[in-house]
Order: sequence, then structure tokens, then C-alpha cells
Amino acid sequence: MKAILVTFAVISPLLAQEGPTSQKVSEEKDMQTFPSYLDTGYDQKHRPQFHFTSRKNWLNDPNGMVYYDGEYHLFFQHNPMGNKWGNMTWGHAVSKDMLRWEQLPHAILPYGGGTIFSGTGAVDHNNTLGKQKGDVKTLIASYTLALKGPFYQALAYSTDKGRTFELLNEGKAVVPNQGIERGERDPKVFWHEASKKWVMILWVKKAITDKDRRGRNKQRYKDMPNGPGKVRFFTSDNLTDWEVASDFDRDWVFECMDFVHLPVDPSSSKNYAGTSPSSSKNYAGTSGDLNNKKWLLFDASFDYEIGEFDGTTFTTDKKVGLGDFGPNYYAAQTFNNSPDGRTVVIGWMRGSDFNKVGMPFNEQMSFPTTMELRTTQDGIKLFRWPIQEIESLYNRKHAFTNRPVAKLADALSEIDADLIDASIEFDPEETGTIEWNLRGLKVSYDADKQQFLYAGVPLAAPTVNGKVKLRVLVDRGSIELFANDGAAVATHFALPDPENRSIRLSGNGSVSLVINELKSIWPQQ
Ligand code: FRU
Repeated sequence: MKAILVTFAVISPLLAQEGPTSQKVSEEKDMQTFPSYLDTGYDQKHRPQFHFTSRKNWLNDPNGMVYYDGEYHLFFQHNPMGNKWGNMTWGHAVSKDMLRWEQLPHAILPYGGGTIFSGTGAVDHNNTLGKQKGDVKTLIASYTLALKGPFYQALAYSTDKGRTFELLNEGKAVVPNQGIERGERDPKVFWHEASKKWVMILWVKKAITDKDRRGRNKQRYKDMPNGPGKVRFFTSDNLTDWEVASDFDRDWVFECMDFVHLPVDPSSSKNYAGTSPSSSKNYAGTSGDLNNKKWLLFDASFDYEIGEFDGTTFTTDKKVGLGDFGPNYYAAQTFNNSPDGRTVVIGWMRGSDFNKVGMPFNEQMSFPTTMELRTTQDGIKLFRWPIQEIESLYNRKHAFTNRPVAKLADALSEIDADLIDASIEFDPEETGTIEWNLRGLKVSYDADKQQFLYAGVPLAAPTVNGKVKLRVLVDRGSIELFANDGAAVATHFALPDPENRSIRLSGNGSVSLVINELKSIWPQQ
């Protein structure tokens, strides 16, 4: 309660200011405060049980993800007025394990005629901002102020572990508009230890379409080159004064850039409480050299490039990979200040329309996954894998090694598949086409094309030593597929029939299966 009052006290004078709005910004009195959400539970029949959703109302991008003093913070794009996009505000939740979230009062509210678009969070370990109180490090939130006119990048900070935020310099720009009006947003800010500087990366130019060129803004677009995106790198000593360091021009970049330093071929993640796939035998070269690291830049649609970064400039071989092949993974972000060397990413499962099925909330986050680089036949690639903490949700376990598919039906009928983490491994030459029916969601493997298929979306999974593997997480609102130890991942919104909690399998030959029934992350109501 106190936090809400403090937040409003800071922001309300600005809300009253005159100014254009990029969208209808609600009156403060119309905002639903977080305490008003508390009579909404987590037990609705389509409420995800191990994925984060806001207790009430809309969410989109994860924002401000940062670890500090035993807590993971997940801020998120939130509409405190309803189940559709709008009134962008930073919602907030904290967790000790990235699984069990406690939602807290809204963290940063619209002000000055603008709304709070996406951005990142970081710990100001060296007190470069000069705001630290006592021993508690300052948390900073770097975000875009979305105005009707040109957007700019601003900063808020918290001296009480994220419970309340103050706007730096009344929320004015720390990075002014770069000349692209609304097409520049979503700052990623992190501390670059090697150069002892803060780095901000910003998507600063939208691709200009032919329609744009013909439209009423044609004068403005006349002199712009044809369509490339651009990521602008800035550096700073104090989080307040930023200098342009370099531009990284690419066609593929669009919104919500993130930039992380990842070990290449960590030897099965033994050095940290990580979650490397159990058998890491099927990719080349496990050097385990944690000093062999590369930088990975990715955007909202999870296109990525891998390369070197010297504190100002990013150089790559220009090969573009894709971090998720499903239709519902967007605007992912990693935790800054990871406590154990892992890089964990969470995406917005865009298009999870729970509104249609009458839920009091809308949209959801993906399950958190680690990110690791591995050397493959096609060069260095990103691998993603569900965080190991999922094991704390395991309830009943069902394991079958090399069992004939024809003899599995009885054992499978014992399983209550409301929420599951299930893995399968088989030799497609032996099984032929496999079909795995999880609560009515049908995943198949096409042995000729060497790919899994769900909802018409292929997921490449060539055989490795004659076998293919798939791990699936099924919740009340999703199915996430991890092929071949996380070499290819697809995230899908899905609404399994609440009455159907069965698993079936068809195909020839034998398979190995491990199926874990999961507990909910939400406290029992
Ligand atoms: C991506 C995005 C961001 C923006 C935010 C607004 O989904 O469009 O670029 O900051 O959503 O909610």
C-alpha cells in the first residue's frame, strides 16, 4: 500500500501536466492499483500454473529483469486498466527461483503525457549514479518514454530494492530522441566490466516501407536510406551522460534488443548451478573454457548474431540465427547481474489471448530458459533449455526406457497430464512417423523431413547418433518444444481442453520416455 502511495505522490504532479499523449493515458483515478487485484486468485481453469501471468489485466514484454540480493525482479509492460494493450506501466513481480512469483505494486506509472515503454534493469554496484542509501545498492530502470511526439530514453531508480522508484531528473531524457521519432526505443543497459563503463544499446530506426514513403510523412522519410534497421551503442560513466559509441546496421533488427556475453561450449555447465542438457555428447567440442566467451545480440523476434565486443563496437561474421521457431515468442530479455553465471531469458508469449476464454488477465510469459553457445556442424549456435529449478515442481515421475510403443498405452493412462515436463527419445528409422498426443495437442515427428511438427510449425531435429530427442512443457496455456537438447526451440500458445488430461503415443518400435507431473507455482487458494 505504502509503495503505491509513494509512487503516486512522485508521479501525480507530472500526470497533471499538459502534453500530447501517444495513446490515451488514463486518469490516475481510473488506474487499478495492485491491491485491488488481490481478490483475483490464480485458480481459473485456463490460468497458466507454471508460467507468469499478471494477477489481473494485460501484460506484454518482460522489462527490467535483474537479480539483486536474493531476488529476481521481473517488471513487465502492463495495462492497469484492462485486458488489452494500453496505458503502458511497468508491472512488477519478484521471485527467489524464477518460478514462484509474487506480484508487487506497479513500479513505474505513466507521466508527463507519456507512457512507460520497455527497457532494462541493472544494479549500480559502484554507485555511479550517486543515489545509494546505506549498503543497499541502487537498482536502475532504463526505459522509453513514449510520447505522442518523439520518444526519448529516461531513467528511474530505486534505493529500496525495487519497492519504489524515483524518476531521475523528473523523468526527463537521459538520451534524447535520435531523430527517428517513435522508431527508437527499448534501451538495454548493462555494466561492461572490461571497459568499466555502462553500455546502452538502442534500436533507433524503423524499417521504412513503401507505404511510409507514399504516406503523409513522405517528406520526412525522403532522405532516409531504404529500410535498414540500426542498433546504436552508447557508453556512460554515470548513467546520466551518454555518448554515442557506434552504430550496428542490419536489416533484421527490430525492437527490444538484448546483448549478452555467453561462454562457448561450457562443459555441461558444471561450473555453475546451470542446466545443461543431461547428455551434452551430441555437439562438437566441449572445451569447457569459460574464458572462451562471445557476445550475442538479439531482437524482439529473436533473430541473433554472435561476435566480439570491445566496449564500443560489435563485430560479427553476419550470420543470422533464430532463437525460437514458434509463433508466440517475442521481446525476450535476460536477467542482468545473474548470481551464478547462467544467462536466463524469458520471452513474452505474444498472442496468448486468454481474454477470449474469459480470463481476468491477458497474455503470459514463457518458461525461463538458459542460453548457451555450442559449436555445431553449422558453426556456433544458441541452445536454450528450461531452468533446472523446474525440478522443484516435480510431482509424480513416470519413466520408460526402450519400451515398445504398442505396450505403453496402459502405463500412459495412469498419468494426470494437467501440467507436465515430458521428454522422448527414439530412433526414427525404427519408429517411423511418431505422433505424441498431449492433452489433445498433437506433436509428430516426420522421419523423412527430420523435423517435429506442432500446429503446422516445423522444428528441425536431425538424428544425432541415430536418435532424436524432444522435451515438451505443457501448461494450461502453452506448449514449449525443445528439440535435440535445446538446439531448436518453439514456443506456442495453446489451450488444452481442461477435461482432457491424457497422454497418448503412436508409432512403431520402441521409445524412451520420462514424464514428470508438475505442481503449480501459485500458492494453493
Ligand atoms: C514490443 C514493444 C516495444 C515497446 C512495447 C510497448 O512488444 O512494441 O517495442 O516498448 O512493446 O508496449
